[in-house]
Order: sequence, then C-alpha cells, then structure tokens
Amino acid sequence: RIHAVTLIPGDGIGPEVTDAVVRILEAAGKATGVTFAWERFAAGAEAFAKQGEYIPHELSESIERTRVGLKGPVTTPIGGGFASINVTLRKQFELYANFRPIKNLPGLETKYPGVDLVIVRENTEGLYVGLEHEVVPGVVESIKVITAKASTRIAKWAFEYARKQKRRKIHAIHKANIMKLSDGLFLKCAREVSKSYPEITYGEHIIDNTCMQLVMNPYQYDTLVMENLYGDIVSDLCSGLIGGLGLVPGANIGDHAAIFEAVHGSAPDIAGKDIANPTALLQSAVLMLRHLEEDATADRIQTALEKVYVEAKTLTRDVHGTAGTKAFADAVLAAMEGA
Ligand code: NAI
Ligand code: MG
Repeated sequence: RIHAVTLIPGDGIGPEVTDAVVRILEAAGKATGVTFAWERFAAGAEAFAKQGEYIPHELSESIERTRVGLKGPVTTPIGGGFASINVTLRKQFELYANFRPIKNLPGLETKYPGVDLVIVRENTEGLYVGLEHEVVPGVVESIKVITAKASTRIAKWAFEYARKQKRRKIHAIHKANIMKLSDGLFLKCAREVSKSYPEITYGEHIIDNTCMQLVMNPYQYDTLVMENLYGDIVSDLCSGLIGGLGLVPGANIGDHAAIFEAVHGSAPDIAGKDIANPTALLQSAVLMLRHLEEDATADRIQTALEKVYVEAKTLTRDVHGTAGTKAFADAVLAAMEGA
C-alpha cells in the first residue's frame, strides 16, 4: 500500500526529529508492506526566504490532495512578524479537533505513574483567531470568538471519541464565571451535547482550579474538552506530568484532512545539537498510521519504542538519558529489527 503524505519538517529541532521519525516509518513500512510517498515542504520563515510565501501554495495544494500531513514544529516570532503557521494551517483546513493523548511510557519513571488522559482542544477559534488591534496608544484589544457551531462540533468530537474508546468521563474546562458570554456559550453547547451520551459522565471544571487539580491528582480526569487557549496551556502542563514535551503526540483533525504533530515547539534552545527527543513526533506518526488504518505498522513502531524505554539504555537527555536524537532513533530501529 502506498500513502502520499505531506511532510513539513519545520525549523529548530523540527528537521532533526523529522529525520529520525521518517527513518523509523520507512523501516516499519518496509516490514509491513507500506510505502510512503513524501511530499516535502518548507513553511514559515524558511519558506518565506525561499519562495516569498509563509505557507507556499504548493504546500496547501499537497495537503488538499493527500489529506494527511506529518509536521515538525515551526517557529512563530513574538511581537511583530507573521501569524502562526500552525494556527493558520489549522484554520485553513478546518482541522477543528486537536487531540492530545497523555499517557506514560512504560519503564519511564515520572512523578505521576499511570496517567491516562485525553485533551481535546478546539482548534479554530477562541483568542487564536488573531483579531487584535490598538484602540489608542497604550490600549489594545484581543478578541475571543466563540461560536455555537464550533463549540458543538468539538464537544461532539470529544463525546464520539470517548464513546468509541470506551472512556467514561468528560470534563468541559472553562472560565464561564468571568467570560459569561463566550465560555458560557461553550459550556452550554457541551452540556447540550452531553445529553446524547448518557453512558459518559459529564462534568464542568473552572480552568484555574483544573490546573491545581491536575497537579494534585491527575487521576480524577479522563477526557478534557476546552477552547483553544486553555487547551494549549493545559497540554503543556499535562506533558509535564508524564515526563515532558519530548513525549506527547498530537493530531489536528478535520472532516477532510488531518495533520499530525507533537505538542512541543521548535525548541531553539536545543536545536541543531542532536539532543531533541523524537518520541513526541514518533508517537504523532503512530497516530497518523492509525488514522490511515495501518495498525500493523503503528503497532510495530509503538512496541519497539516502548521496548527502548523499558530497557532504558538509549534515552535522550530530557528523560535522563545521554543518547542523541540519532542514537535514540537507531535504538528504535534495532528494537524493530529484533522484533
Ligand atoms: P518549545 O515547546 O519549543 O520548548 C519548551 C521547552 O521544552 C524547551 O526547554 C525545549 O528545549 C523543551 N523541548 C521541547 N521539545 C523537546 C523535545 N522534543 N525534546 C527535548 N526537549 C524538548 O516551546 P518554546 O520554546 O516556548 O517555543 C519555541 C517556538 O516554537 C516558538 O516560536 C513557538 O511559537 C513555536 N511553537 C510551535 C509549535 C508548533 O509548530 N506546533 C507549538 C509550540 C510552539
Ligand atoms: Mg502549545
């Protein structure tokens, strides 16, 4: 079977972790009869320097054709510069559900063993619509957009996911006590959707309390659904519960396309040093394989990855090892060959 996949290596640690993941995907594919036809594109500052476009139209056309993307992180400048490529791609292709499973890797000791949480983040609106303006010097407004359509859509996605995966509980996370209209609407939609899923317990928690609860006792949660900004922040917090940003995968899913990427960013502090952990992007690729219904290939990678963590001989520095990105990828490849 051949799968055309749009590949965006990104910048910072993006190219390093992407190289590692592509090598592992190709080896696993070879062993299970899957071939990847990569359509590789630059995005962001790199693309602008080469082609004068932050998101080259060939890249957009490729995603329209393949409907599947694997993406490394892309740096977004603070202050001026250009709008986030990540946010733009999610809006452009209506990738409304950002799905982030938070689960410990076997063998890896962390402060919280046995975490199994799912974050479902609304991916197209909230404060990330980027509607900001200066009213007068010294006063700016940033507009938060919440619609019934997108709120209902993300709640349905979360409940459908929970039903299929036999998950038991969903909490809608909000600040409707302060943002009575916007978060109030989000909550109203989630509550309405919850009525069609009587087998799933539905609860509502305020975002700041949720952060405390997650740190005190993450086990009380199962699936969390929330608007864009809260989802962004809570994802990084939850990554910390299970060993950091180097581990947690993500999927941006729409009705017509899906782009798979890690939760982490371009990590400029460690870029180009062969020390980044490719696990987060690798697990994102595993999610992609499941989306493509290539479960045998996905299982092959996940099993090898877990073996490397259990053996704990070749881990990267973020998870207390000493191995580099390439050496870690080699260890996963070796574990796959041994399988
Ligand atoms: P970051 O997620 O890049 O890094 C935060 C911390 O985690 C850093 O200390 C970094 O070294 C570490 N880290 C991240 N990924 C790691 C990995 N795979 N292995 C080991 N350590 C890892 O967040 P930061 O520094 O705030 O953002 C950097 C840039 O990335 C910004 O321009 C931001 O806009 C962009 N970004 C892009 C995203 C995307 O493309 N989807 C997502 C998040 C941020
Ligand atoms: Mg983030």
